[in-house]
Amino acid sequence: MPDAAALTALDAFVAKLPKAELHLHIEGSLEPELMFQLAQRNGIDLPFESVEALRAAYDFSNLQDFLDIYYQGANVLRTEDDFYDLGMAYFRRAIDNGVRHAEIFFDPQTHTDRGIPYAFVIDGLWRAVQDAQKLGLSVLLIHSFLRHLSEEAAFDSLKMAEPYLDRLVGVGLDSSEVGHPPSKFARVFAKAREKGLKLCAHAGEEGPPEYIYEALDILHIDRIDHGNRSLEDPALVARIVKAGRTLTVCPLSNHKLCVVKDLDLHPIPAMLKAGLKATINSDDPAYFGGYVNDNYLALTRRGLIGREDVLTLARNSINGAFLDDARKAALLAEIDAYAG
Ligand code: HPA
Ligand code: ZN
Repeated sequence: MPDAAALTALDAFVAKLPKAELHLHIEGSLEPELMFQLAQRNGIDLPFESVEALRAAYDFSNLQDFLDIYYQGANVLRTEDDFYDLGMAYFRRAIDNGVRHAEIFFDPQTHTDRGIPYAFVIDGLWRAVQDAQKLGLSVLLIHSFLRHLSEEAAFDSLKMAEPYLDRLVGVGLDSSEVGHPPSKFARVFAKAREKGLKLCAHAGEEGPPEYIYEALDILHIDRIDHGNRSLEDPALVARIVKAGRTLTVCPLSNHKLCVVKDLDLHPIPAMLKAGLKATINSDDPAYFGGYVNDNYLALTRRGLIGREDVLTLARNSINGAFLDDARKAALLAEIDAYAG
């Protein structure tokens, strides 16, 4: 374990290090304080007495436990302004965390299935994206499909996105993984690809390595979200390394959802050692106890990663982004200048 002075120096280094965040569900950045404010603004009764009581309910033993409360929380989001406020609250936190570029998932079906028009969601988020840009943060939006729903429902959702394709960089696949393999969405992903969208899928968070093979071979994804369980299969790790696919890993999420038993055993060091292009991300920061820097610090403070690893992870976050080469080069140069 590094000594206290070295740790303090590393904390400070992480704090302002330029980085990208590539795995963030905007609905998962809804802090309890904002949830209560929006509930009041929209005349909604929350089934919790206070912010503290709500936070106390964030005790999960698996992904589904979390999803149940996360979908319930999203119910306060009703108007275009709500989505704007949600976006801006995250973008300000991201900027405070040294994030220079963010690629954020949003779950349209969670809203449109409650009767909220797709336009409210995308217009509110888009206005926030443009305001973030004025603060120096670039943002790209990823329309995520809920995998517990049908492929037909995903097609319907993609159709709603049609008038707004110029505001989207890609599509994703999230929600309850086990029992809903990537192959269920083969045709809708092919269609998204035809429309020029990048493809991501959550795979190997709770689901088996087979789901990661399917994401690669059937969906032809550009990036793997989580991917933890790839480590159970050395041939799969070799495949991912050879294909050069980035993994968006989320340490605090993994711990809160019991994907890893103990943060001391987090697989980021093993991933880097294997040559995987791992990145560090916050997933659902309002629910998992921290933004992106907290996720780096969860590993530095345990002595799992040092300064060079931190730099590798930050560079991986830029290289794994869906940005053009010029913006990537500029951000990598910022990291080099910062590293000195
Ligand atoms: N996994 C699956 N679905 C999700 C997640 C996650 O970590 N966060 C929000 N939706
Ligand atoms: Zn996620």
